[in-house]
Amino acid sequence: MGRRCWRQRVLAAACLGAALLLLCAAPRTLRPVFGNRALSSSWLGRERRSPLQKLYDLNQNPRSTLAEVHRQRRDLLSSACSRHTRRQHLLQPEDLRHVLVDDAHGLLYCYVPKVACTNWKRVLLALSGQNRGDPRAIPAHEAHAPGRLPSLADFSPAEINRRLRAYLTFLFVREPFERLASAYRNKLARPYSAAFQRRYGARIIQRLRPRALPDARARGHDVRFAEFLAYLLDPRTRRDEPFNEHWERAHALCHPCRLRYDVVGKFETLAEDAAFVLGLAGAPDLSFPGPPRPRGAAASRDLAVRLFRDISPFYQRRLFDLYKMDFLLFNYSTPSYLRLH
Ligand SMILES: *[C@@H]1O[C@H](CO)[C@@H](O)[C@H](O)[C@H]1NC(C)=O
Repeated sequence: MGRRCWRQRVLAAACLGAALLLLCAAPRTLRPVFGNRALSSSWLGRERRSPLQKLYDLNQNPRSTLAEVHRQRRDLLSSACSRHTRRQHLLQPEDLRHVLVDDAHGLLYCYVPKVACTNWKRVLLALSGQNRGDPRAIPAHEAHAPGRLPSLADFSPAEINRRLRAYLTFLFVREPFERLASAYRNKLARPYSAAFQRRYGARIIQRLRPRALPDARARGHDVRFAEFLAYLLDPRTRRDEPFNEHWERAHALCHPCRLRYDVVGKFETLAEDAAFVLGLAGAPDLSFPGPPRPRGAAASRDLAVRLFRDISPFYQRRLFDLYKMDFLLFNYSTPSYLRLH
């Protein structure tokens, strides 16, 4: 897409005001943005290349191995998008609620809960200078406090488009069923999410468990995985309100076929991918908080295997259909433990 097209789009979006947001439907191809004088001259008032410019540099000769991995992920995403998505609605600013903005570094991060998003928020707070020192020291509730990190949804369409054009945009994804298993365990199965259990667990039990005991109906503390899946597949659930962000599909939170993502990070390679982003952001010394448990990856898979073992093939197939786009767009293969045929 040429510059002129962009300019027209930005102009169109500005004219439309807050009513409609017009975004480039096709992912933007990487190109140098040093033509953008406003950006390079005001870049922290220093002679520094933006993260997006650095990514562009890396993609030139000689290519770094990591940059090549990320280029392949972008290509796969964009071809999966053109293969599997049909006509799409226009994005509204509110659709960009999950995209967090770091104006100082030129970063846009779309957070997906259960994919190290607390740690990313901590790191962005540390980067922004709001919290100095070790990101690990920032309490989780502070990292999640509304308004600590601005959301792209809070800007005007013209301001949104300007950032989308010039900033490095990234997200982190995770194997969809491992993410779902993790959401179930942390939000519904564990005893420490009483508020979550009262809000969602109680609803699930009231709706889906015949002859539930009064205590379970009120507290929602003992939702079984099968009941949770039945709730996700129940058409009433999404008719009433969107899925909670902890189990909403990553593509529905971050719109990867509508926005151009420069880096698709993966939970499975979190340390390398985070270091890659932090290098581009000009903060290579900031260390991304490591996983709390060393056996994280294997444990995450084991949990999914164990939980899905007791689910009937019929429900497995329907659930796979529900999360299929996340498997396809982010190159996750169908889990071998599923019995889909
Ligand atoms: C997609 O996944 C396959 C199988 O895991 C892997 O071999 C391939 O490199 C991946 N492609 C990309 C672009 O990540």
